[in-house]
Amino acid sequence: MRMVDVIQKKKRGEPLSENEINSIVQGYVNEEIPDYQMSAFLMAVYFKGMNKKEIADLTLAFVNSGDRNDLSAIEGIKVDKHSSGGVGDKLSLVIIPLVASVGIPVAKMSGRGLGHTGGTIDKLESIEGFKTVLDRETFINNVNTYKMAIVGQSANLTPADKKIYALRDVTATVDSIPLIASSIMSKKIASGADCIVLDVKVGSGAFMKTVDEAIELAKTMVEIGKSLNRKTIAVVTDMSQPLGHEVGNANEVMEAIEILKGNGAEDETTIALTLASYMTVIGGAFADFDTAYRELDQIIKSGKAVEKFKELVQIQGGNPEVVDNPNMLPHSKYHIEITASESGYVSAINAEKIGITAMLLGAGRKKKEDTIDFSAGVTMVKKVGDIVKVGDVLCILHTNIEDQQEANKISKEAYSFSNTKPKLSEYIYEIIQ
Ligand code: URA
Repeated sequence: MRMVDVIQKKKRGEPLSENEINSIVQGYVNEEIPDYQMSAFLMAVYFKGMNKKEIADLTLAFVNSGDRNDLSAIEGIKVDKHSSGGVGDKLSLVIIPLVASVGIPVAKMSGRGLGHTGGTIDKLESIEGFKTVLDRETFINNVNTYKMAIVGQSANLTPADKKIYALRDVTATVDSIPLIASSIMSKKIASGADCIVLDVKVGSGAFMKTVDEAIELAKTMVEIGKSLNRKTIAVVTDMSQPLGHEVGNANEVMEAIEILKGNGAEDETTIALTLASYMTVIGGAFADFDTAYRELDQIIKSGKAVEKFKELVQIQGGNPEVVDNPNMLPHSKYHIEITASESGYVSAINAEKIGITAMLLGAGRKKKEDTIDFSAGVTMVKKVGDIVKVGDVLCILHTNIEDQQEANKISKEAYSFSNTKPKLSEYIYEIIQ
């Protein structure tokens, strides 16, 4: 097989065979196929797409490029959750203890943040002592005993996806449905869960900018899950502005604790409860969604959910006191108020710009090797629909970096205003199952 012929075939929009897909993926991992040919191939996929069979074959080729996590030693139906990436998305921190509290095992592997989107592992590491690397025995024992454990993705999980994702990032081929769907689903399949609940984000902070595109991505991933015998549900949720009020790491942990105590903002509480409800239904704890939602809401209100989070912190080496005293989390030196220079309603907040602001403040990485300042981030004082007067504080930037001109400018640009009250986005657009 010559790579140039495969590129030619995809350029004409013809479907590729399983054999051709396996050869491309293996050839790229083994460095027999150079970046320039892989880049041309990815661009051809971007424009011509892939059919269901090709997407499932690509997913499996990614899975087979590395290790598979064997979770068979864990009792019960293992349910995983994945977000397609957002700004202020601290929902895994809420969902893991919430789902575990009704006895459904959550054996979670999570990623780190890159670019404008944050990562659960970074957020948890802002709790001093919290270990995100556990040996296999501890991981399995914790899930069997406490129904929950979380670790960073192991280095050899879907290495082909890792290498191709890095190339997509610099060849403008990230926002392709077949490529996103196979990338996400390969990691979920290799992670070993029996059932998967996907949070597919849509809006200015997400890869999918329209609801139709997000629904198509959601359907594609649910199809892949089904074709590989994993029960999969996708929830299409709003990312037209950052979720909740905190974007960063330590400040997102603080906000997650508030959600678990029942004091969370409405958007993130609703979405967290919805995702957790589907996880507990798919995992067999409740017969239907409405019952699950009601019961989980009650678990939050009773204080049980936050106690379960405390337990998670403790069993992974952190100091559980942080839950009652979030001031123990890192704090930055500077807190810069960004104020409104016009009056009116906040009509939109560009979530990607807020994500970039957080990154510039030190909360995220421009490059994989960058280190994170856990105390850095943004507090969203005003959200879409709020009324502001000139001089009102829109958001507060937390940082240890003295010169913050670029972050000041971008965060201000993120806000748009109107004279009339804007229509508020829905939190949840569609459920695909
Ligand atoms: N998240 C992933 O893991 N892969 C993508 O392609 C996009 C988002």
